[in-house]
Amino acid sequence: MTATYQFAGKTILITGGAGDIGKATAQRFATNGAGVALLDLNEPKMVEVAEELKDYNIPIGTFRCDVTSADDVAQAFTSAVEKFGRIDYVFNNAGYQGVFATTDKYPEDDFQKVININVIGVFHILKAAAQHLREAGGGAIVNMASYAGVVGPPNMLAYGASKFAVIGMTQTAAKDLAPYNIRVNALSPALIGPGFMWTRQTELQAAVGSQYFDADPKVVEQQMINSLPMRRLGSLAEVANGVAFLMSDEASYITGFNLEVTGGE
Ligand SMILES: NC(=O)c1ccc[n+]([C@@H]2O[C@H](COP(=O)([O-])OP(=O)(O)OC[C@H]3O[C@@H](n4cnc5c(N)ncnc54)[C@H](O)[C@@H]3O)[C@@H](O)[C@H]2O)c1
Repeated sequence: MTATYQFAGKTILITGGAGDIGKATAQRFATNGAGVALLDLNEPKMVEVAEELKDYNIPIGTFRCDVTSADDVAQAFTSAVEKFGRIDYVFNNAGYQGVFATTDKYPEDDFQKVININVIGVFHILKAAAQHLREAGGGAIVNMASYAGVVGPPNMLAYGASKFAVIGMTQTAAKDLAPYNIRVNALSPALIGPGFMWTRQTELQAAVGSQYFDADPKVVEQQMINSLPMRRLGSLAEVANGVAFLMSDEASYITGFNLEVTGGE
């Protein structure tokens, strides 16, 4: 995969645009000439990302949006379409990892929070994207799932469940939207770093005290990396490459697919 996809004159809307993967993907699309609409709850961090994108000389917009609110999502889409004219690609990426606890101890309120952001939030964006892209004549959507939505990792009951749901929604939406020239795929990274989620998960897995991981986060890092054939983390840029491929015309006959960015199993 190279940086040769042509996205000039196109616009990508990225939720979780203030986060590590959102930012890397924004940079990747900006490199190939796309305008970037960032949506996030964290406005100050999102504005920082937008500042860093200025060097690319592409249109940039920031839209504060809580994806768990259908009203916020509708407002953000309206504002983004006003600014950019139309959206071509939607990266449905905002997400929350949840706490780390064994199933018998998993807290009720956190389970609901994870489902609210990772399932209801993804649904709100998927629905708004479907409505807009249908009116616009077509486009592509990538839903951010996770390898946790393929294997069910220990101590991540809500997160795993939410990402299984994202893969399920992707398959149904791909069927529903194919008649309108809209492709819908999912992306499932495994161990990606450096970044907030990688650091957080090694620290919290270590703190659970389960049979699967050591109590020292540095040892946990190595235990996790050793489970991969490539014996290294995937980079943020490698995730962004996957998004670029799935959005590109190279993937014009690919829909309902879950691209696993795992370094093997
Ligand atoms: N980093 C990894 O190792 C990894 C692996 C697999 C999947 N993922 C998925 O990739 C996506 C991005 O992860 P990341 O590593 O960039 O994490 P991150 O924490 O750096 O970014 C997540 C972003 O989502 C935003 N967000 C959270 N709740 C929101 C809400 N209600 N409304 C709007 N924005 C909200 C946060 O403010 C943050 O900017 C997530 O869906 C995550 O589950 C990450």
